[in-house]
Amino acid sequence: MKLVLLGPPGAGKGTHAKRLSDRYGIVHISTGDIFRANLKNGTPLGLKAKTYMDAGALVPDELTTDLVLDRLNQPDCENGYILDGFPRNLAQAEALTRALAAAGDQIDAALNLTVDDEVIVHRMSGRRVCSVCGASYHIVSAPTRVPGVCDRCGGPVILRADDAPETVLHRLEVYHEQTEPIVGYYRDLGKEIQIDAAQTVDRVFEDLVAALGE
Ligand code: AP5
Repeated sequence: MKLVLLGPPGAGKGTHAKRLSDRYGIVHISTGDIFRANLKNGTPLGLKAKTYMDAGALVPDELTTDLVLDRLNQPDCENGYILDGFPRNLAQAEALTRALAAAGDQIDAALNLTVDDEVIVHRMSGRRVCSVCGASYHIVSAPTRVPGVCDRCGGPVILRADDAPETVLHRLEVYHEQTEPIVGYYRDLGKEIQIDAAQTVDRVFEDLVAALGE
């Protein structure tokens, strides 16, 4: 199964991509995680991406598209994958469609997580991430067992740099201008599945599984 996960920042793409990856045994590919891992390791890609990420802007396509398309050619993607955070504009969506079509392939579904902006702002202000392993929490809906300490690895849990309120508002603007149009692109291809992501995490996941089937 080859899936694209769409939705604004904070819609729950990372949360549900991990669950879907476990449920269906497919690889979770998050462009945001790839950039953050590069930044942590001090690679040239990470340092270039940081400027854009800190500002809440999109990293340029020339740094992003080939990176993802190369990743899809790795052997572990043969059984399927879920793309979280890619594509993020029309050029990336078209590049993905072209690359898959060249191999006689296509995605199975574009899962569109819908949530109002006000809910997003609330969610992002409460999100905390582990600075060591990247695990994601929320101070109200998914707290760590010990405050400030990651359940998984014991690392410190912090506010993500681009979750500062002014940066979140800019990320939402960028989403509406550049990413939301690709919902229509996938709808026209007959691939869009809309999911109400304002429900609890478990209800959203149930709806995703119901839409995809066992
Ligand atoms: P990226 O890491 O992809 O960030 P994003 O899309 O803004 O998404 P988030 O990770 O912020 O949110 P999410 O939807 O994964 O929600 P989550 O599950 O964490 O990208 C970061 C940056 O990298 C971009 O700004 C850009 O600069 C760059 N980039 C990445 N891809 C790119 C591309 N293709 N092209 C160019 N640039 C690119 O949930 C959020 C919080 O809410 C958590 O605390 C969670 O616990 C909680 N939560 C989730 N669901 C629920 C629920 N149903 N109820 C209550 N709480 C919930």
